[in-house]
Amino acid sequence: MKIRNKLLVSHGALAVCVAVICAFMLVALETTDRNRRRMADSYESLRQLNELNSDSNRMAEQISELLSIGLSNRREVTEVSRTLLARLEGVRDQLRDDIATAASDAARQRDAEMLEWIEVILDRTVRLADIGTRMADLVADGRIEEARRIYVVQVEDGLDDEISDLLRSATAADEARVLDAIDRWDRQTELLRALAISTVVLGTGLAVGAALVMDRLVSRPIEALARAVDDLGQGRVTRPRPAPGGDELGRLATRFDQMARAIARQQGDLRTARDSLMVQVAERTASLSQRTSQLEAANARLTRLNDTRTQFFADVSHELRTPLTAIRGQAEVALRQPQATVADLRQTLSQITRRSGQMGRLVDDLLFLARSEAGAIAFAFRDTMMQEVLAEVMMDAALLTRQRDVTISVTQPSGPIVLRADPDRLRQAIVIVLDNAISHAPDGTAVTLDLDEAGGRIRLAVSDRGPGFTEDEAARVFERFYRGHSRGARGGAGLGLPIARWLLEQHGGAIAIARTEPGARVEITLPPGGAQGGAAWTS
Ligand SMILES: Nc1ncnc2c1ncn2[C@@H]1O[C@H](COP(=O)(O)OP(=O)(O)OP(=O)(O)O)[C@@H](O)[C@H]1O
Ligand SMILES: [Mg+2]
Repeated sequence: MKIRNKLLVSHGALAVCVAVICAFMLVALETTDRNRRRMADSYESLRQLNELNSDSNRMAEQISELLSIGLSNRREVTEVSRTLLARLEGVRDQLRDDIATAASDAARQRDAEMLEWIEVILDRTVRLADIGTRMADLVADGRIEEARRIYVVQVEDGLDDEISDLLRSATAADEARVLDAIDRWDRQTELLRALAISTVVLGTGLAVGAALVMDRLVSRPIEALARAVDDLGQGRVTRPRPAPGGDELGRLATRFDQMARAIARQQGDLRTARDSLMVQVAERTASLSQRTSQLEAANARLTRLNDTRTQFFADVSHELRTPLTAIRGQAEVALRQPQATVADLRQTLSQITRRSGQMGRLVDDLLFLARSEAGAIAFAFRDTMMQEVLAEVMMDAALLTRQRDVTISVTQPSGPIVLRADPDRLRQAIVIVLDNAISHAPDGTAVTLDLDEAGGRIRLAVSDRGPGFTEDEAARVFERFYRGHSRGARGGAGLGLPIARWLLEQHGGAIAIARTEPGARVEITLPPGGAQGGAAWTS
């Protein structure tokens, strides 16, 4: 039902209630008025009866006075009786009119009763007047005794009493009516009081009921809607419960509900889109930061490489100039001594030969590094037995220990250890490490080579009893041109271990410094399968 119709119904119900209450009050007022009129009529009737009664008494008195004071009273008797008769006729005519115009049967009946009384009284009064006239005539004739007898018999004990009784009865009937009217009045008053209280209670109840109904039908849905709108304004999508019934508020709530649903759906879509966007942004950020760190790493590598190259060329120049300067100096000194003997010249030449040999080795290493960086070092991988490689190494070691009092001992498993490797390059790496060990081993000590295979890795440990590595050296010995505090029996350029590491890495292997007390221990690990093909220098 529409709100307008609900309001109309509610107001209509209130109007009907008010109309009913007013009608009750009008009826009550009408009844009260009727009672009042009835009482007024009864009062008038009583008043007339009272006057009739006193006139009747006066008439009887005047008639009796005919006997005591004589005919002089005849005029008063006539006057009183005329007055009484006129009054009775007036009452009778009035009652006849009232009966003709009576509003109700009860009133008509009451007036008819009264008319009966009045007609009887009138009849008796006429007769009394006739008796009075006869008594006056008898008194005029001097027949006093006869007149007294008539008075005693017909007036005193007859008509006077009869008229008095009739008037008393009529008065009693009217009094009863007055009492009845008072009783009705009282009941009417009680009814009106009850009606007034009921009206107050009913009116209050109706007002409260109407307020509750309006609150339930209109205020609450509006407040729910207002709250939902506030929530929506603050970004919280709540949905109002649709108002019961299909009124305007119900339809409004339904529309709002649909709108809130649509907004919630859109919010959900937006949230999903935002989440996926955030995921994409996070992924992009991660990939960007990964690229940034890769770029930073590459940049750092390039910077390091640049520094290394700069340092490398400085080191190369220095390493080449030092022996060259020495060679030139020794040659010039020999040339400036004309008296130099053949033995002196031989010694000078032998030193020049040694230094040029050093330079040759240095140039070889530099060339090797240059070729490795250019990817020009070829590897010929094949199934290689480690024991055979070590046998070759031992042949080189014989040359290396020629001028040293150092022995070399090898421990290796009896079973063949086979790997994919370029045996020449592998031998070259091992010789570099062994050369260092021999160079740093004190005279009279042994350098040991321990070969074993465990955990899927081939391991070769080269140990000597020399000064060993400090912690700083262990971290830096694989840098080009790095030389530690111990220069060994034959100083070098600091290129051996970097070259060895590169060679081993091309085989999929590794090299590490393991400090032992006393001495040094360098461990080479290799995979059994080895690696395929060569690679450019990367460090
Ligand atoms: N067995 C060892 N005991 C003690 N120190 C060593 C040992 N092997 C290498 N070193 C230290 O490591 C440094 C670097 O060795 P690396 O073989 O690279 O260069 P080098 O031997 O000095 O010169 P190169 O090998 O180029 O002739 C050496 O200068 C030396 O101080
Ligand atoms: Mg060396």
